[in-house]
Amino acid sequence: MRDPIRRFLHRGLEVSGLIGPLHRRQERRHAELSSEPHEDGLPMPPAALIGAVAGTGSQRWYSQRGKHDAAWFTSMATSHGVTLAGARVWDLGCGCGRIARWIAPDILTSGGDFIGTDINKELVRWCEANLPGRYIRNSLQPPAKIPDGDRDVAYAYSVFTHLREPALRAWLAEIARVLRPGGLALLTFHDEAYAAAWGPEAVRLSLQSQPLVIFNDALEGSNYLSTWMHRSAFVTFAEEQFTIREIVPGRRDEPVQAMAVLEKRSGRAPR
Ligand SMILES: C[S@@+](CC[C@H](N)C(=O)[O-])C[C@H]1O[C@@H](n2cnc3c(N)ncnc32)[C@H](O)[C@@H]1O
Repeated sequence: MRDPIRRFLHRGLEVSGLIGPLHRRQERRHAELSSEPHEDGLPMPPAALIGAVAGTGSQRWYSQRGKHDAAWFTSMATSHGVTLAGARVWDLGCGCGRIARWIAPDILTSGGDFIGTDINKELVRWCEANLPGRYIRNSLQPPAKIPDGDRDVAYAYSVFTHLREPALRAWLAEIARVLRPGGLALLTFHDEAYAAAWGPEAVRLSLQSQPLVIFNDALEGSNYLSTWMHRSAFVTFAEEQFTIREIVPGRRDEPVQAMAVLEKRSGRAPR
């Protein structure tokens, strides 16, 4: 179907509210596509939960990509002088623990602490029952139920990719509240490089004249709505509370989002 017609039809579904049940049905269909074996020792989430966070029912993809992304966060933190093992870590938008399942065990066995939070109560409930760590529900807008300055590290994979600007800014401020001074935030987002390779054409065109674009503007916090922005826009939002340590552009050769490494401003260096 041609793009303008599709946009027109989508808008009708968004305005009428029918998009909610249709989107959930599509998630369930994806989730039913496959049930392959997984490689780690922890229980796998039901396919419907994998589908809700990953848009695919492939357990193999879920497992291998989760391991890969966990190693990415770990090595990015290490390259900025922070060891995750033994640290107090928060996974914002943990989903059904795709990354947490690989990261939490090491943190906990080294004397650290791990919290995952998500807006989706089914995902939180599954993590709490099946994975190491503590899992807590939060609302679309802050706060998270975590005390001030309680965490050394916060990370979020593909969460800022599903928030409108007010929630996005509010969660940056909330992460700053929850991190100790000098703490590290590792946050992925859809930047212009990722959009150029993997984004819908309408997004690529809009990004030529706008710093931030919302695609499918309904169901905030779900994978239906997607947020795309220039790296410079993300920097502008983040530097209100953080020192920007590094922004890694999104990749064009494989669908890997941009990552921002941010340090909560303070006089002290991170541990
Ligand atoms: C694309 S999924 C990624 C899940 C997980 N981070 C991963 O990499 O598998 C986005 C997740 O963010 C969650 N989410 C969206 N908005 C949120 C918010 N304001 N607070 C917490 N979680 C949120 C969704 O429920 C969903 O689980």
